[in-house]
Amino acid sequence: MDHVISIKNLNKTFANGVMALKNVSLDVNSGEILALLGPNGAGKTTLISIACGLTYASSGQVFIAGYDIRKDYKAARRLVGLVPQEIALERYENVLDTVHFSRGLFGLPPDNALVEKTLRLLSLWDKRESSLRALSGGMKRRVLIAKALVHEPTIIFLDEPSAGVDVELRKEMWDVIKGLRDQGATVVLTTHYIEEAEELADRIAIIDKGAISLIEQKDQLIKQMGGKKIHIDLTEPCSSIPANLQKYDTHVTRDKKSLVYVCDTKYREKEIGLFLNDLHKTNLNIRDITTKEKTLEEIFMSIIEERKP
Ligand SMILES: Nc1ncnc2c1ncn2[C@@H]1O[C@H](COP(=O)(O)OP(=O)(O)OP(=O)(O)O)[C@@H](O)[C@H]1O
Ligand SMILES: [Mg+2]
Repeated sequence: MDHVISIKNLNKTFANGVMALKNVSLDVNSGEILALLGPNGAGKTTLISIACGLTYASSGQVFIAGYDIRKDYKAARRLVGLVPQEIALERYENVLDTVHFSRGLFGLPPDNALVEKTLRLLSLWDKRESSLRALSGGMKRRVLIAKALVHEPTIIFLDEPSAGVDVELRKEMWDVIKGLRDQGATVVLTTHYIEEAEELADRIAIIDKGAISLIEQKDQLIKQMGGKKIHIDLTEPCSSIPANLQKYDTHVTRDKKSLVYVCDTKYREKEIGLFLNDLHKTNLNIRDITTKEKTLEEIFMSIIEERKP
């Protein structure tokens, strides 16, 4: 496998003693979208900052297309586009100038056509003359994306790209990110929106308290960890679970009008039949039965819960 980003045994302890990363190793495949999920303070931004050469690790190494981010900083950095989590823009500059400037920072000649294409891609062309301070938060975030793309990087880190971006524009941005991948770029993104990871990611890494707790193909993760929820709506409220159903993972809803049975994918084939058989033997009067797959959000929460001390 062609690993375009290779992170090896990274540790980061800040001056105040906070251990933000603990022996993190991670390989990113060429052309994939990897979503980095984790609660606040998990270490996502620290990891991205080290991978982009903005912060030094306490120990460990990062290779970008084979270049060591510390020893071959310039070569590695040229390949990388970073959309930072914090919005820091020159308030009095306009959109067009700031995007041109970002390209210049890499020693590249001006390219009006590319800047126009990038701004149009992000629905910012009409705002090109606007001063940055006059833009909304969502527009500022898209300016950050334009700035990150304008030196034509092949590896793009997006740290919470859709924070503060409304639902409609978020969907537009998802198309932009998918478009980058379709053109061959490798994308690493952090997000708190599980549906964003569900929509975009090829693989998902979960980071918690500075350590990677899981990395898996998204589809595989949903298949392995997901499950089916079967809602049994009752004609009469039920206060407790019938004795012969207690061996299953079942609960009564708060309004007592339904029974919910959660079936792990692993056991699905044999268990559902047995459950329905036992359900039939109870004296419950059933109004309706509906089924629902577990969402990635539920999977994510259960993984984090499981790992709590
Ligand atoms: N410059 C710093 N000095 C000291 N501690 C820091 C510094 N930057 C981050 N930290 C700490 O390191 C830990 C990881 O922070 P980081 O910003 O990487 O988390 P994150 O996963 O990006 O969180 P969020 O989802 O809130 O963006 C936190 O405990 C944070 O307080
Ligand atoms: Mg962060």
